[in-house]
Amino acid sequence: MSAERLEALAALAGINRLELTIEKLVLGGDGLARWRGMPVFVPRAAPGDVVEVRITERRPSYARAEIEEVKTPGPLRREAPCPFYERCGGCQLQHIEDAAQLGLKAAAARETLRRLGGIDPAQLAGCRFEEPVGERAWGYRLRAQVHIARRSEGDAGSEGSVGVGFRRRRSHDLVLVDRCPVLAPALEKEVRSLSSLPGDPAAASTKLPSRLSLATAGLEPDSPVVAAPPVDGLPSGDLEIDLLGRKLSYDARCFFQAHGGLLESLLRSAVGPFEGDAAVELYAGVGFFTAGLAGRYGSVTAVEGESVAARYARNNLRRNRLGHCRVERSAVESWVDRRRGGPGLESGLDRVLVDPPRGGLPRKVRSALLNAAPNRLTYVSCDPATLARDLGDLTRDFDLESISFFDVFPQTAHIETVAQLRLRR
Ligand SMILES: C[S@@+](CC[C@H](N)C(=O)[O-])C[C@H]1O[C@@H](n2cnc3c(N)ncnc32)[C@H](O)[C@@H]1O
Repeated sequence: MSAERLEALAALAGINRLELTIEKLVLGGDGLARWRGMPVFVPRAAPGDVVEVRITERRPSYARAEIEEVKTPGPLRREAPCPFYERCGGCQLQHIEDAAQLGLKAAAARETLRRLGGIDPAQLAGCRFEEPVGERAWGYRLRAQVHIARRSEGDAGSEGSVGVGFRRRRSHDLVLVDRCPVLAPALEKEVRSLSSLPGDPAAASTKLPSRLSLATAGLEPDSPVVAAPPVDGLPSGDLEIDLLGRKLSYDARCFFQAHGGLLESLLRSAVGPFEGDAAVELYAGVGFFTAGLAGRYGSVTAVEGESVAARYARNNLRRNRLGHCRVERSAVESWVDRRRGGPGLESGLDRVLVDPPRGGLPRKVRSALLNAAPNRLTYVSCDPATLARDLGDLTRDFDLESISFFDVFPQTAHIETVAQLRLRR
């Protein structure tokens, strides 16, 4: 540790409050400031803010702090539009102008790719970074998980009645809400009606689960909404969506891409202009990308671990008459492992598309991809940190061609990345 850092650490031990200027946002949405060279991470800060903060955590190489007072707001700071923003943990960036959020998130994601994971800088220098894609910053979200709980003292509404809420910021407690403006209009209407249930609230609460998944099929106020598990007064079962000429069904239990205004551009970007004979898709869900790959490859094998999603994926192939595609229900890490009886990723594939959950690709899956060496690899990622780690391995044999960022969760710190790679010859 440098002498300057040691000094800063020692000085910080005796200080609770500091005045800081926020430089930029980092992955996860916190603002970054430096105090005597020591990085200090400050949630709910905006670049250019001058803030008085209270130190909440001291570590050898960094500190964390909470804003006590915004002394001078940075040029991108605004009043958060949602009245629940201060307490609710769902959004992290409402205090920043809509038009600035995606640029800040994309810059933080690029920096993550540069600093974590050991990707060869020459790879990033040679990679084409597309213009980040954003759309509709409010009323976009097609899916939500809400918590159902009794109101207690301090919550809006009458004590003891049933309310609907999200996790409180940095806590397992709930914030009960009567609106959520990032939800698609039809979903938000359901949240409003769930938050003011008629009749005997005690009886209502016994009929409701503590957690409810809600999904809608579109951005219109009258788009159908379904719930899981089923509850009185709300439909359950299938939703259907038209996507570039294919019909996709799913229900509220399944993963489905969240931003109703970005479905087509995300699909087009991931599938790209490429084509060939054989493609494999790992972590396929209900077949969102499978239906796109189907038009370009002679055969597509889609692997999905969750049984409900795999069932929908099969039905989606059937109803779109995509007989040259098939779905395998299996954990990807078993499917790629021949020693454990999985078929394994064969060599000679034209294309593999992966869209793993936040944890990224297990080591075994990265090794299988390197061994199989498909001509093209597409990596759709919801976490730039695990993407950086995985690309650090994969770029040993694959060249990074392009990276596109999509703002699938405006008002939050999340960002979706599509990376296109080609086998190095
Ligand atoms: C980020 S979602 C992507 C789904 C799909 N590509 C889409 O765009 O709708 C990840 C999917 O991987 C599935 N999954 C998670 N872990 C898995 C595993 N170990 N093996 C197979 N599938 C898994 C989940 O059920 C989910 O459907």
